[in-house]
Amino acid sequence: MAGVLALLACAAPGAQAAESPAQVQARGLAAFVHRCGMCHREGGTGTYILARRLGAEQSLLEKRTDLQPLYVRTVVRWGLQNMPRLSRVEVPDADLDAIISYLLAPKPAAKP
Ligand code: HEC
Repeated sequence: MAGVLALLACAAPGAQAAESPAQVQARGLAAFVHRCGMCHREGGTGTYILARRLGAEQSLLEKRTDLQPLYVRTVVRWGLQNMPRLSRVEVPDADLDAIISYLLAPKPAAKP
């Protein structure tokens, strides 16, 4: 059984061993736009509510530098007040991992 699962994992698209961090982040950006962007980009409910709770400069997840992987994962899987929980069907683990890599990647604006 484990052997079959390993074979399936190898056959899955995106499972190539040689994916670079930049490729993972590009996948994360696409998944973020698709799964989170409607609430977490300019004009989204998430952005609006985070602006009220944390202030405008913390309201856009893509501009944050303080997010922790476990926090993002927990919020997505369990929900947080006005944010609904998102299941593994809605956002597969591989997508969530890529979204987290994207959100936590060093921000170009933070460079001196
Ligand atoms: C249906 C709209 C919606 C979707 C889709 C959504 N969110 Fe949210 N999210 C919210 C709202 C609203 C809040 C603010 C919750 C509150 O404070 O009441 C939030 C809060 C958060 C927070 C907490 C930020 C903090 O500093 O406390 C994180 C992290 C987060 N969302 C990540 C994500 C990720 C990653 C995705 C995509 C996988 C996503 N969200 C999809 C609406 C959404």
